[in-house]
Parts: sequence; C-alpha cells; structure tokens
Amino acid sequence: MYSSTTPVVDLADHQHRYGILVDGRLAGFTEYRDRGAQRVFFHTEIDEAFAGRGLASVLVQQALSDVRKSGKRVVPICPYVAKFLQKHDEFADIADPVTPEIRHWLRTELG
Ligand SMILES: CC(C)(COP(=O)(O)OP(=O)(O)OC[C@H]1O[C@@H](n2cnc3c(N)ncnc32)[C@H](O)[C@@H]1OP(=O)(O)O)[C@@H](O)C(=O)NCCC(=O)NCCS
Repeated sequence: MYSSTTPVVDLADHQHRYGILVDGRLAGFTEYRDRGAQRVFFHTEIDEAFAGRGLASVLVQQALSDVRKSGKRVVPICPYVAKFLQKHDEFADIADPVTPEIRHWLRTELG
C-alpha cells in the first residue's frame, strides 16, 4: 500500500506530457512531442511549492521507463532530462542525440 505522500506519475498522452501528482495535486510535468519512434522531451517543470525534494528526478525516471516500455527512444532537448541522462547510464541504450534537424522540427511542431 502506498502512503498518501508517494508521488504518482501519469501519462497524459493527449497533452503530450507526463505529470507528477502529490496527494492528488499536480506538482509538475515533463512535456514531449513524438517524432516517429523518438519521444522528444523539451520542458520539465516542478511547481515551486514542491521544489528541491527530488520530484523532477522521480518524474523523469518514470517517464523514461515508460518510453522504454513502449519501445520508443528519448531525445533530451530539455536540459534537465539531458542532465538526468548523463547521470543515469541505464537509459543510454534508448537515448538519441539532439541534432539541429530535431531542434528545427520541434520549433515547427510547437508553432
Ligand atoms: C529544474 C526543475 C524541474 C527541478 O525540479 P526539482 O524537483 O526541484 O529537482 P530535483 O530535486 O529532482 O533535482 C534538482 C536537480 O535539478 C538540477 N537543475 C535545476 N535547474 C536545472 C536546469 N535549469 N537545468 C538542468 N538541471 C537543473 C539541479 O542542479 C539539481 O541537480 P542535482 O540533483 O545534480 O543536484 C525545477 O527547478 C523547475 O521547474 N525549474 C524551472 C523550469 C526549468 O528550468 N526547467 C528545466 C529546463 S526545461
């Protein structure tokens, strides 16, 4: 049984993001767009009220595990996700480099 303070990570596919809930409140999210089999992460944010307790790390860890489960790959445009990948070798096999083409594609995608 989870305690009420165990954060829960949820995929909101229609919003292209994973959210992290603490006691039912949305504490933050990481946003992506899919480019074929690549899930391109471009922004991660944790609400200030929840900052500095490792929630971004829990969120990104679970988001990347979900990417692995769905057979996709990760492109870390978001600096937080890039830093996370540098520290967590276990996702190296599903990580693709950020290229100028992908940055350009993302800009077009986001409008
Ligand atoms: C960056 C952010 C998501 C971290 O959330 P958090 O839950 O407080 O983070 P955690 O407690 O899991 O981790 C803190 C780590 O984030 C790192 N960090 C903070 N701001 C960062 C940034 N802009 N880019 C990369 N890493 C950052 C810290 O250096 C720290 O690293 P460490 O674990 O190696 O010491 C949060 O501060 C935030 O929403 N910032 C504003 C938006 C932003 O700059 N997002 C990142 C780029 S898209």
